[in-house]
Amino acid sequence: MAVGSGDCPDLRALCEHIGDCHRCPLGSTRTQVVFGSGDPRAELMFVGEAPGRNEDLEGAPFVGAAGRFLDELLQSIGLERSQVYIANVVKCRPPGNRDPLPLEIETCTPFLRRQMELIAPRVVATLGRFSAHWLLDTEVPISALRGRLYHVGDIRVVPVFHPAAALYDASKRDVLFEDFKRLRAVCDDRRDGATSASAQTPEAPLASGAAPAVQDRQPADLSDPASEAPGLSHGDPSQGALF
Ligand code: URA
Repeated sequence: MAVGSGDCPDLRALCEHIGDCHRCPLGSTRTQVVFGSGDPRAELMFVGEAPGRNEDLEGAPFVGAAGRFLDELLQSIGLERSQVYIANVVKCRPPGNRDPLPLEIETCTPFLRRQMELIAPRVVATLGRFSAHWLLDTEVPISALRGRLYHVGDIRVVPVFHPAAALYDASKRDVLFEDFKRLRAVCDDRRDGATSASAQTPEAPLASGAAPAVQDRQPADLSDPASEAPGLSHGDPSQGALF
C-alpha cells in the first residue's frame, strides 16, 4: 500500500508511521526497525539490502564490517556519511541474515519509496542485487547491471556490488572502487548542471507501482557519464557500453 504525502509529510512522520512495525513477520524476530540515516537533503542516496546483526542492535544502517568498507569507498571519492543518505530495501533484519523474502520486500518498500520521495536524491547508488532489482524492476544479475547508468525518471541510478561481497571476494574490491569513481563523476555532472543526455533511448515503461517517485523508468546505459549512449532494452544490459 502506498504511503502518501498526507500521512507522512517528512521523514520524522514517516518514521513514526512505521513505528514498532509488525506488518510482516520480520517484526517478531528483529530487535528494532532500521529506518535509515544521513542528510535528509542528500543528493546521493545509497540503498542496501537489509539490516544485519550490528544494524539490528544499533538501529542504524551499515554499521558493521560492510559499513566500514562503505565508509572507505565514500572516503575514496571525498565523501562522508553525513553528506549522503543510507537506507535499505527492508528495514528489519531477516533472521540469520537470510535474503529478504518477496512478501517482506513488498510490505516494506512503500516506506522506502516515500523516503526517496522526501529525500529526492539526484543520484541513487544501489548496493547489491536486491535494491537494484527493486529500483530497476529487473532480475538481471548485479554483475551485468553494474558499470552502467540507468534512469528512473529524474533519478540517476548507479548499481554497484554490495560492499559485503568484497569482504568475501577480494576481486570485487577494485571493481567497487572503480564504480565509486564513476558514481562520483555522475554526481558531479548533476551538480554542475551539465545535462549530459545526448542520446537517451526511452525504454519500456515500468511495472506500475514499482517506481519510487516517478513511473517512467529509463534504463539507458552510458559508456561515459558525460556522454550518454543510446540505452538498452530494459532487462537486457548485455549490449550496453560499460563506463
Ligand atoms: N547490509 C545491508 O544491506 N544493509 C545494512 O544496513 C547492513 C548490511
